[in-house]
Amino acid sequence: MSETALPSNFTILAIETSCDETAAAVVRGGRTIISSVVASQIDEHRRYGGIVPEVASRQHILALPAVIEAALSRLPDGLAQVHAVAATYGPGLSGALLTGLNAAKAMAWARDLPFVGVNHLEAHIYANWLLPGEHASSDTPLALSDMPPAPQFPLVALVVSGGHTLLALLEDHGQYRLLGQTRDDAAGEAFDKAARIMGLGYPGGPAIQQAAEHAPGGVTLPRAWLRDSYDFSFSGLKTAVLHQVQSRQTREAKVATKADGAATQQRTPKGESPDSFDKYIAQLAYAFQESVVDVLVTKTVDAARAFGATEIVLAGGVAANARLRAELKRRASVPVRYPPLALCTDNAAMIAAAAFYRFASGRQSDWDLDVVPNLKLA
Ligand code: KG4
Ligand code: ZN
Repeated sequence: MSETALPSNFTILAIETSCDETAAAVVRGGRTIISSVVASQIDEHRRYGGIVPEVASRQHILALPAVIEAALSRLPDGLAQVHAVAATYGPGLSGALLTGLNAAKAMAWARDLPFVGVNHLEAHIYANWLLPGEHASSDTPLALSDMPPAPQFPLVALVVSGGHTLLALLEDHGQYRLLGQTRDDAAGEAFDKAARIMGLGYPGGPAIQQAAEHAPGGVTLPRAWLRDSYDFSFSGLKTAVLHQVQSRQTREAKVATKADGAATQQRTPKGESPDSFDKYIAQLAYAFQESVVDVLVTKTVDAARAFGATEIVLAGGVAANARLRAELKRRASVPVRYPPLALCTDNAAMIAAAAFYRFASGRQSDWDLDVVPNLKLA
């Protein structure tokens, strides 16, 4: 069932509100992005050093009308050109999910359109079906023969986001086999927590990647291999970072540096110049990133080999990590695909892509579909 029976101009409006991005997108034929609008709430949450659910729900309600309108504005006849409406129904924050799910249902109901509920984790994987670059904003769909090929099954998907870390085998659209997942923190969560410990701010992933660029080597951190399993564990690594920072601080006098509005403080040990402490933090950031990347890449490459995958797809916010992308490409023996940066983090175009293939296989949702905050992939 790798081919779909839906027409290539089948147009889906999708909404994503599972966490801290309010997003809407219009996607044609499951692959061509007509519009993708993302309103980030990151500034609202930054002061707390993490996401506050009530703040997220309120911001979604405030942002949704304008975000949906902006997404539809790329269609000359707006909603009249849409064939189905989709929204994320889980996993995520329940209040936040409700805002987008209800908005999508209301629009579908009012226009007598089919409605498709989408699993956010599945959608991250489907970001790999979307066409980036010059095709992305095209109003005229490419002829099927001109389209870059879609991912080929069977494939191994590594989903690494702020809330999830999992390795799955996809045998066809909608056919998942969960190979492994995190036993504690998600990879992105580990980046965020470690960055906070190191005083690098929020969100932690980009901050750690940037700090790591300045100081290779010097510090080593452990890797949690969990032998004979495709599961992951990152909480021990986070604790190792904490111990490193604390032991560096035992001799210290606390010197608070400018906290630029974040709930983080940088502490400089006594007698140590801020420059050398910054260098130490950069080395720690590098070691942390190496440890996470090594484990993620090793298990993904092993799984691809063990299950005869024809390719590897990377997905989720942490797929934006340059070191992870490069190392996976270097060590994999099959092609590695990852979405462009803007489609790695939460967006609604990926929801539309997943909805297209769901709908194509006859999986439309009922009006009573509720949010499922802990929805699983398989
Ligand atoms: O997929 P996403 O936008 O949200 C969830 O569904 O969770 O992922 C957000 C996560 C955050 O934890 C953020 O720190 C991480 O993705 N992230 C990165 C990078 N960019 C974002 N992690 C590592 N390196 C990056 N460059
Ligand atoms: Zn996500």
